[in-house]
Amino acid sequence: MNIVLLGPPGAGKGTQAESMTHALGIPQVSTGDIIRATITERTPLGTEFRAFADAGSLVPDCLIERLVDERLARADCRGGFMLDGFPRTVAQAEWLGSMLARHGRPLTHVVLFDVDDAIILERIAGRVSDPATGQIYHVSFDPPPPGIASRLIHRQDDNAEVLIRRLQEYHEKTAPLVPYYERLGLLRRIDAFGRVTDVTRRVFAAIGVDAPAQTWQPG
Ligand code: AP5
Repeated sequence: MNIVLLGPPGAGKGTQAESMTHALGIPQVSTGDIIRATITERTPLGTEFRAFADAGSLVPDCLIERLVDERLARADCRGGFMLDGFPRTVAQAEWLGSMLARHGRPLTHVVLFDVDDAIILERIAGRVSDPATGQIYHVSFDPPPPGIASRLIHRQDDNAEVLIRRLQEYHEKTAPLVPYYERLGLLRRIDAFGRVTDVTRRVFAAIGVDAPAQTWQPG
């Protein structure tokens, strides 16, 4: 399966990708994670990315496309992949479509996470993650286990001011991908409001696969 997870910031794409990648045996390719890893390396490209990410703006298409091209060429993506956070503009979607067509491995599903902006604000405000495992938690909705609080991190761009900009970027530049993928017959819209396990069931139903009996947990 070659899947795209589409939706606004904080819709739950990364949360669902964790159980999907485990159940489907395909890697999650998150452009947000790739960008944050590049920023940590403190290279000139990382410095460039930081300015965009900290402001809540999309990084230029040409820079992110190159990184996606390299990532999808790796061996672990040969049997399928799950793109999380890419494409985010019609230009990125057109580039992706041409690149995948050249390699004879077109997209099979685009899953749209449908959720209101008010819910997103709540989710982003409480998000923390564990750098040791990559696991995402929410302080109220999906609390971390005891004993790891001191190592949990809150993302730099998860603050009210930057989130407003991220939502603007989504509505202006990414939302046009909904009719774009609808026209291609690839879009599967799911209600992303509700418990994580309920959303998991909807995502698996949307891609026509039985949901795992239990949500995967690391370790
Ligand atoms: P990126 O990292 O992709 O951020 P995003 O799209 O804003 O998405 P998030 O990671 O914020 O949300 P998510 O949907 O994964 O939610 P999560 O599962 O964590 O991008 C960051 C930046 O990188 C961009 O601003 C841009 O600058 C740049 N960038 C990235 N890709 C780019 C591209 N293609 N082009 C250009 N620039 C790009 O869930 C959120 C919280 O809610 C968590 O705490 C979770 O525990 C909780 N939660 C999840 N599901 C539920 C539920 N059902 N009920 C209650 N709580 C829930």
